[in-house]
Amino acid sequence: MKQVIQLIITRRKGEDVATTLKVGVIGVGGIARTHMPGWAASTDAEVVAGSDINGAVLAEWGRTHGISRLSTDPADILNDPDIDIVDVCTPNMSHTALVVAALEAGKHVICEKPLAPTADEIRRMIAARDAAGKLLMTAQHFRFKGVSQAMKREIDQGTLGDIYHGRSWMLRRNGFIPTATFVRRELSGGGPCIDIGVHILDLTLWLMGNPQPVAVTGVAKAPLAHLPGQFAVWRNSVPVPSDFDVEDFAAAFVRFADGATLVLEVSWLLHHDTEVEDMQMWLYGTQGGCHWPKAEFLATDYGTRQLSNRQLKLIKDPMEPHALECVEFARAVAAGGPSPVPAEQSLQVMTILEGIYRSQREGREVSLVG
Ligand SMILES: NC(=O)c1ccc[n+]([C@@H]2O[C@H](COP(=O)([O-])OP(=O)(O)OC[C@H]3O[C@@H](n4cnc5c(N)ncnc54)[C@H](O)[C@@H]3O)[C@@H](O)[C@H]2O)c1
Repeated sequence: MKQVIQLIITRRKGEDVATTLKVGVIGVGGIARTHMPGWAASTDAEVVAGSDINGAVLAEWGRTHGISRLSTDPADILNDPDIDIVDVCTPNMSHTALVVAALEAGKHVICEKPLAPTADEIRRMIAARDAAGKLLMTAQHFRFKGVSQAMKREIDQGTLGDIYHGRSWMLRRNGFIPTATFVRRELSGGGPCIDIGVHILDLTLWLMGNPQPVAVTGVAKAPLAHLPGQFAVWRNSVPVPSDFDVEDFAAAFVRFADGATLVLEVSWLLHHDTEVEDMQMWLYGTQGGCHWPKAEFLATDYGTRQLSNRQLKLIKDPMEPHALECVEFARAVAAGGPSPVPAEQSLQVMTILEGIYRSQREGREVSLVG
């Protein structure tokens, strides 16, 4: 019966039964749920197995998605010769061991952000990827929003000229997930830098064309998290957990090899005018500027002394970006590459974030090269 159902699903999803890629999800908690509609929509791949160290969460996930190949030991996914793609959705500090093991087992890997909480771990992943000859992708879902894709296409045509400066921020007012996965450094690797800094920084670098970062001056501290009565509005206004040991705010000035610069701000707790989250970016070039997510492009005609603002035409997102990133990864694997979000670009992101922490400790600008 199970085989019959499997065949029907496979035939609906892809024309060639033999080429449907099999996916195993490791860590089936919060974010894994957002990947499932993508795997379901993919014509290249389907989820056949799941693993989570929490048996109750795993059983519930299996029931919800009709998946019976379940194990509390991730090794069962890694050692399963039937599985082509591993989707890693566990807390940050477990990413490296799982990603490297999956690559060594000959799987293609999509891994939640941050790919790893240190640059050295990402280098280990890149080495394992290259030895295995498989694809590795960081799940940076903001790249898969329609507005991001449309702006990337426009910027890549040279609309902005040389981009010489960026300003980007991702600021929340008492907005973060107050669980150990996020607030304990031993599980997360850091606070908003690692949690949401990776989103806005990845998006900014990608739209800038991934210039090489060479130096950063940064601060990363927790001026608000430990105030008496402090709370997170997410998950019913619960108090900040007592084991919170990460920063709640960071700001940085980044220099790139091509002379461009970037000002970055991130926070989970800030007296900022936003109900939930304020995520924005400005890029400034010699021919124009632009704003994400307004998709507004600004230019100056020096001959006629005219200033112009132009709004990009956007189409409705085909699906939620967490889902689309899975569809795109499966498509890339089926096509033989390249990875839609290469690990080298995540290495740039993490090199800057690590630099912010180092700059905070040393109280000065730090070099990111050599
Ligand atoms: N892209 C986004 O917008 C976004 C949003 C939230 C979280 N995330 C990322 O997703 C990852 C998971 O976050 P979450 O919110 O889903 O956390 P979560 O705690 O809700 O879920 C993680 C799950 O992994 C399981 N787990 C932990 N260690 C494991 C291991 N070694 N092997 C197998 N299972 C294991 C846990 O039991 C849990 O069910 C983190 O890296 C986080 O940064 C991304």
